Parts: sequence; structure tokens; C-alpha cells
Amino acid sequence: MDEKTRKELTAWLEFYRELGIEDFYRRARGSVELPASVNVAPAEPPVAAPLPTHSHSIAPPPRTTAPAELSKPLSAARVAPVIQPPTTSFNLFEAAPAPRGPETLAQIRTDLGDCHRCKLAGTRKTIVFGDGNPHAELVFVGEGPGADEDEQGLPFVGRAGKLLNRMIQSIGMKREEVYICNIVKCRPPGNRTPEKDEVDACSPFLYRQIEAIKPRLVCCLGAPAVRTVLGIKEGITKIRGQFYAFGSTQAIATVHPAYVLRNPREEKILREDFEKIREFLKGG
Ligand code: URA
Repeated sequence: MDEKTRKELTAWLEFYRELGIEDFYRRARGSVELPASVNVAPAEPPVAAPLPTHSHSIAPPPRTTAPAELSKPLSAARVAPVIQPPTTSFNLFEAAPAPRGPETLAQIRTDLGDCHRCKLAGTRKTIVFGDGNPHAELVFVGEGPGADEDEQGLPFVGRAGKLLNRMIQSIGMKREEVYICNIVKCRPPGNRTPEKDEVDACSPFLYRQIEAIKPRLVCCLGAPAVRTVLGIKEGITKIRGQFYAFGSTQAIATVHPAYVLRNPREEKILREDFEKIREFLKGG
């Protein structure tokens, strides 16, 4: 393969990795060679390639920062697509990702399996995949399970969860109506902030969950969620309460309920942001 074609192909593969797609197949005919690092399934069957199993042969894509557009708050405008495929004249018929159609949360959970993709597997009790309505209009993304969540296998069931439940109710919704998950699915020891390698290993599953649910709004709870979902590194108090483009949907950033538990006077900012969520979901 010549250098130009290799570069174009690499750009496409990076683009698909951004979307969480890692398994590719190659049609039997043709002579395109994929880079050795790519997980190429056998040529047969070329069309209905299976969903990935939990034994990926390449590490999940390291999603570092989101594209620049992501870090700009939206005005009143609706969303523009954020992740653009690389512009290329390269014919991808020979090296397209395996067509697998929309995934369900159950399929993603199966793919996650008894995950050992990062070191958190060594200390967790339970994988906390996510909880709630698979067709939710609103998805909450927290940081990572704590002790209660690790015990029960459900996100936000401890004190922070009780506060989140109250906030959800304050905007006229029920917990069962929304979907709740975290940037990592296993409890970090001592409830520390998840480390980069852990987020890199786990976040592709989060993106796939969001893609499967197709919510109207993703609410990032706290700075680590904002960094992972939106690629924004600024302080949460600066960027909270604003709407951002996120793929074909939108996202809002707010403070983590655990922060409010430690700083009860800040509950008003959480309430303010939840009111914005209520207004957003009303219009549409
Ligand atoms: N904090 C989080 O960020 N997530 C949980 O699931 C619980 C507490």
C-alpha cells in the first residue's frame, strides 16, 4: 500500500475508533491491506460480521480530547455534527467497518463481559454498567461507582444518588425515565478519580451506550465526566449550565451531586442547571 493510501486509511480508522467501532472486515476480493495493528476478522462471512466479543485484540481507542467544536458552548442553535469523517477520495468499499446496525444496550453489556480491560477489575466487586430507560431522552454521566454502587451493581444508589434522584424529581421526572451511567464501570479504590488508562479503556463503552440510547440530552455530572464526554478541561464552575454539541445530540455540564453534599450551599447551582434541563426537554 502506498504512503498516501495508508495515511487516508489510518485517518478513517481513527475516525471509526472515535465512534467506538473497532472491528473491521475485509472483503475477500480486492487487495487492500490493513495496517497490522487493526483487528481484521477473517474475510468470511464478509457482511454480517459479529458484534465484537469481549476479547478485543487491540486496546480500546484512546479518546483524548474531543474535537475543538465540542468545547464551544452552543448558543440557541441546534447541534451541528461534531465528529467529521476525514475528507478523502479513498474508496472504502474494501475496508469498511463491519456493518452491524444499531447496537442494543444488552449487546454492549454482553461485549463488555467480565471485563478485565483495566486495573480496576482487580479491586471491584461488581461491574456497574448503567441503569434506567434504554430509550431515555436524558442520560446522566457520573464519574465512577462508589462503595454502595459496587455492592449493588447499580449507579448512584448512595448518598449522591439520593440527591440526584431528588433533582430528577424536582424537574417532574422519575429516575426510571432517565438513564444513568458513569465514565468508568468499576469502582476506583478509595473512590479516587479514574485514571487516564482506565477512562481510555472504559469510555468507548459509554459512547456506545449513548449511541444506542440516542438521548436528546446528556448531562455530565462533574469535571471528569465533562472531560471525558466533551473534552473540556476547564473548571466545572466556569462551564456548567451551558449546552454543548455532542455528536448528533447535546450535552450540558453541571456539578457532581457529591460536590453539593460536601458544599450544601451549592445546591442552588445544581437546581439552576436542572431547571435548564427541564426547559430544554420541554422545547422539542
Ligand atoms: N458517584 C458517581 O459518580 N457515580 C456513581 O455511580 C455514584 C457516585
